[in-house]
Amino acid sequence: MKTILTAITPSGHPHIGNYFGAIKPAIEFNNDEKNKTIVFIADIHSLTSLKDASIRKNNIYSVLASFIALGFDYDKNILFKQSDVSYHGEMMFYLSCSTPYTLLTGSHAFKEKSESLPDVNVGLFTYPVLMASDILLYDTDFVPVGKDQKQHMEITRDIAQKFNNDYGKVFKLPESYVIESQMIVPGIDGRKMSKSYNNYIDPFENEKKLRKTINRIVTDSKTPDEPKDPVKCNVYKLYSLFASEDEKIEMINKYYSGISYSEVKSKLFEKVMDHFSKSRVEYDKIINDYSFMDEVLKIGKDKAQSIASKKIEQVKIKMGL
Ligand code: ADP
Ligand code: TRP
Repeated sequence: MKTILTAITPSGHPHIGNYFGAIKPAIEFNNDEKNKTIVFIADIHSLTSLKDASIRKNNIYSVLASFIALGFDYDKNILFKQSDVSYHGEMMFYLSCSTPYTLLTGSHAFKEKSESLPDVNVGLFTYPVLMASDILLYDTDFVPVGKDQKQHMEITRDIAQKFNNDYGKVFKLPESYVIESQMIVPGIDGRKMSKSYNNYIDPFENEKKLRKTINRIVTDSKTPDEPKDPVKCNVYKLYSLFASEDEKIEMINKYYSGISYSEVKSKLFEKVMDHFSKSRVEYDKIINDYSFMDEVLKIGKDKAQSIASKKIEQVKIKMGL
């Protein structure tokens, strides 16, 4: 039995980048009886960037509804909210004391975020230690994440190794599960699709807004007749995530022979609507049913707490607490 764990931060609604980088692989693992799959809503992580409580609450439900609508089996596996399991915060301090300061000063994500965000707080700096706690509390084997999280995963392994050296082996070294062939999904402005850049496509957005967002994808200004390079085009990159091999070849040929960006955008819109059609219906049913969503969170909390409490006990014994 392997343990798979991943999380989405409720700093916005989940988007297509989260879907391909983390949610889809987690759901595939969840379909295999041999695995224990744990997914959670990283609401404590969202405190580093989001300061509006009611937006956070709304986003938490949106992440929860997305996981369920996309097919995550919360009954067979574990789906919970990070702040419901207080061991994450407790473990974070224990791990902090075995984390060399310089390990965190080398984080690319911190450097990037501290340059773009107006509020550079300590939580943003110690974020990777909380992420390591999330993962190590559950004896995780594999973590499905997008490529942008690879360094955080290396930091997690370094922290686990350092703690094991300091106190004796207590942590398993987790591995990231990154689909190499899959690029970082671009946002509508061409940067990495991210909630923090507000450049994302929410697959559960209403039809009109979804079309509008797709129409806003940035392209160059070539006319329909001019040959275009699909490799450099954000619309094609997104289209290729949903298209079959034959459809990709057909589209590449059209790029060379002449096609308007608005036509490709319209094809992308159809693909997104088609791919998520069943889940969109499910999502709309779930998102307003708060008593159902709260019940799901309660089930997840109990299951996660029972695993995490055992790990914390082992760790405290090792440290002589
Ligand atoms: P965001 O950057 O939007 O805040 P999160 O930090 O919540 O996203 O990321 C949750 C998961 O989704 C992580 O595993 C992350 O690697 C993955 N992910 C986020 N954005 C992308 C992207 N553009 N392409 C691929 N995976 C992504
Ligand atoms: N740091 C991740 C991100 O920004 C979210 C996250 C928090 C996570 N804890 C995790 C992902 C544990 C995987 C495992 O995308």
